[in-house]
Amino acid sequence: MKIALHRESRVGETRVALTPDVVGAFVRDGWTVEVAAGAGERAHFSDQSYLDAGAAVVGAPAGDVNVRVNAPTLDEVALLPEGSLHLSFLSPLLQLEVVAALNERRITALSFDLLPRISRAQYMDALSSQATVSGYRAVLAAASHFDRFFPLLTTAAGTIRPARVLVMGVGVAGLQAIATAKRLGAKVRAYDVRSAAKEEAESAGATFVVLALTADAAGGYARELSDDERRTQQAALAGEVAQSDVVITTAAVPGRRAPILVTTAMVEAMSEGSLIVDMAADGGGNCEVTRAGEVVERNGVRVVGLTNPPAEMGAHASFLYANNVAKLLSLFGHGGEVAPAWDDEIVRGVTFAHGGQITHAPTAEALGVEYRDLNAESKESPS
Ligand code: NAI
Repeated sequence: MKIALHRESRVGETRVALTPDVVGAFVRDGWTVEVAAGAGERAHFSDQSYLDAGAAVVGAPAGDVNVRVNAPTLDEVALLPEGSLHLSFLSPLLQLEVVAALNERRITALSFDLLPRISRAQYMDALSSQATVSGYRAVLAAASHFDRFFPLLTTAAGTIRPARVLVMGVGVAGLQAIATAKRLGAKVRAYDVRSAAKEEAESAGATFVVLALTADAAGGYARELSDDERRTQQAALAGEVAQSDVVITTAAVPGRRAPILVTTAMVEAMSEGSLIVDMAADGGGNCEVTRAGEVVERNGVRVVGLTNPPAEMGAHASFLYANNVAKLLSLFGHGGEVAPAWDDEIVRGVTFAHGGQITHAPTAEALGVEYRDLNAESKESPS
């Protein structure tokens, strides 16, 4: 059977879903692989390198298995073979039209956003691998927009004190941001609403900001705060933000708009020359002043709205993503044959549409269609 590697159409995207090395491994496992011409060029993987790995390079690939980084557009869905399998990031609740179009074509549709956060799934966890890239890039963006040093410097021309960096949101990206800012020599403080985040932040080298408020939810995620809780949080954080030279925000709540952690008033209370890098800009931003893809200046404070930070590092982001794809697809087929292991909770968890039915309960509810429960059917091997 055939795996198709599509070219990303998102503006500014540099990543590609499969590297030549991973393509080579699929070919050795008995798959035919078709690669869209130029699919890897923005991540420095030439068409020739895919040919050398055993793939065919074509204008418009179409496979039994179709892989991308970003969700397909409606036009791209229309070109997917009926009944084929599709894998990408695709927050289904935020893209109901695309979900409906995939389902219409009876596509078995998988999204990395739905991958269960269990230990065995870590090797296939593209949300985590790409968040690692984002956390690193956020700190580099901060360092390059900041007109001061990060490290302590004692020089003949004078002593420079280290930058005070505050990381808000200590998930995978936040931890990488803490580690990167530490490597650059900053004094790092960190804040999160999840109680487990304190130990994690401290192990990465930050001092944790403890507030009375915690908001743990199922699966190790944060829940959304109530309006009252949000006001309490903002008041308690105002002093922390005002004393920071650099604030990096990474807070997200899955499937919802990013919470506002830094209000306009908090930005205005920061010293001139300080900086905010908002990694959540794609999801609406953690700062009220943020504009996605722009650098906004407010009372001498710059607010950088990062969009798609992994695309700033296409080569390594693609390397990690492609390895995640290979590991996940190994549960959906082998030896050149599609054969999903429906008895595996990872396979059921990551699949939101199959056989013309929606298999993710919240998405079925949002679309107003019947929900097909793969868990209930798992012992019978759904067709
Ligand atoms: P995320 O990208 O969903 O959110 C980033 C961070 O923002 C989270 O730490 C979250 O608690 C925080 N946040 C959300 N709302 C906030 C608010 N109002 N104020 C302050 N902070 C707020 O998080 P990510 O990186 O996806 O990680 C989520 C959880 O999943 C973590 O517990 C992480 O350790 C866990 N995880 C588990 C894995 C596994 O076992 N396979 C793999 C990756 C992550």
